[in-house]
Amino acid sequence: MSRSYSRIKGFADMFPPQSNNFTRMENCAREIFRRYGFVELRTPLLEFTDLFQRSIGEQTDVVQKEMYTFPDRKGRMLTLRPEATAGVMRAYIEAGLVNREAVSRLFTTGPMFRYERPQAGRMRQFHQINCECLGSYSPLADAELIIMLMSFLQTLGVDEPSLKINSLGCSSCRPLFRQALTDFLNGINRSALCEDCARRADSNPLRILDCKQQGCRDLTKDAPLLLEYNCPDCREHFQAVLDALKGEKLSYEIDHRLVRGLDYYCRTTFEVVSGRIGAQTAVAGGGRYDGLVKSLGGPDVPGVGFACGMERLALLLGENNNNKPDFYILALDELARRQAFTLAQCLRGAGFTGEMNFTAASFKSQMRQAGKSGARFCLIIGPDEAAQAHVAVKILESGEQQAMPQADVISYLKNRNEQ
Ligand code: HAM
Repeated sequence: MSRSYSRIKGFADMFPPQSNNFTRMENCAREIFRRYGFVELRTPLLEFTDLFQRSIGEQTDVVQKEMYTFPDRKGRMLTLRPEATAGVMRAYIEAGLVNREAVSRLFTTGPMFRYERPQAGRMRQFHQINCECLGSYSPLADAELIIMLMSFLQTLGVDEPSLKINSLGCSSCRPLFRQALTDFLNGINRSALCEDCARRADSNPLRILDCKQQGCRDLTKDAPLLLEYNCPDCREHFQAVLDALKGEKLSYEIDHRLVRGLDYYCRTTFEVVSGRIGAQTAVAGGGRYDGLVKSLGGPDVPGVGFACGMERLALLLGENNNNKPDFYILALDELARRQAFTLAQCLRGAGFTGEMNFTAASFKSQMRQAGKSGARFCLIIGPDEAAQAHVAVKILESGEQQAMPQADVISYLKNRNEQ
């Protein structure tokens, strides 16, 4: 008995126009990031589980409940990457990049895996465009990265991206904030917090600040502010980031609740949201992570980075139908098909896109296929044209038609495209 197969929940097949949109995002990212000195790194989808536990943090939602983790045939625990940063850090350390360049700028794109509840813009296999700048403590590195991200989003045509920014402080000032927050949480009615926040109150209290439940937000509206606990160095760093953004006329909103869901961040954190997919859903997020490389056994190298969610970007871009072919060739007998086959290769060699009809279907049916293909030019080779090595070229939009030798088609199409 045969059975049919279906996709795994939260995993998608991607056809045009969405796949076209993804290609466009990746190409745009490559073009913009190249101008800032970024090079492309591709890392494996699978890593040893403890890399993620160590970097993302044992108490985070990602590590606690969202990773696809399993033993390999030798019983070693492996995890499908839930994000790119950890793997990029491992690769950076393993390749000894620190000995080769003072600052490394690495970007990577591809699928990530998190076992979350699927909904629009939230998948179990999703895709990120991820950038990491390693080797600079300067606030200008943070600002440059944010400016590059916003320039990428604007070039893509994302509607009104808005930037939210905060500073998490460093390992010397954040514990003071954490204590103040814990004291505050001890004074509220904890039983009114949502299930997730009740769990986090002791293990990861900062995450309570970015809970999206209105009840939790109301309960914590008077919570202490991170920025008020930043030490002088962290304050100076944050102010310099803001000044650099202001200097480039980039607007931002300080969001005191922005803490991010991964443990490796320090100082600057940021997210980009767009009203079109809901102000609480981030299209991109990132921040500084100065202790991360060292904590993974590497040199004491600072870093700052971000990732964009491509499914979420796709929701903001709408359909992209710019991938229409140039030609569609109808061939109405065997000799015509042989000529059409050769003509199609020549046209592609000259840079045009398109296809021929391989069948012996009627003229009407082949014309229907030509219309469906969306091609601009329909090239018709019937028995009469084939006998003289000619072709009739029809511009589908206007209906204008002209016969010519097959040898002249390339220059004709080039001329028409330039008009
Ligand atoms: P993140 O905030 O966990 O950060 O993810 C970055 C972006 O990935 C989110 O803003 C969102 O657009 C997208 N995203 C996350 N989960 C899903 C999902 N289940 N479905 C669809 N899209 C999703 C990071 O991953 C950090 N590694 C970013 C970073 C790089 N920080 C420094 N360097």
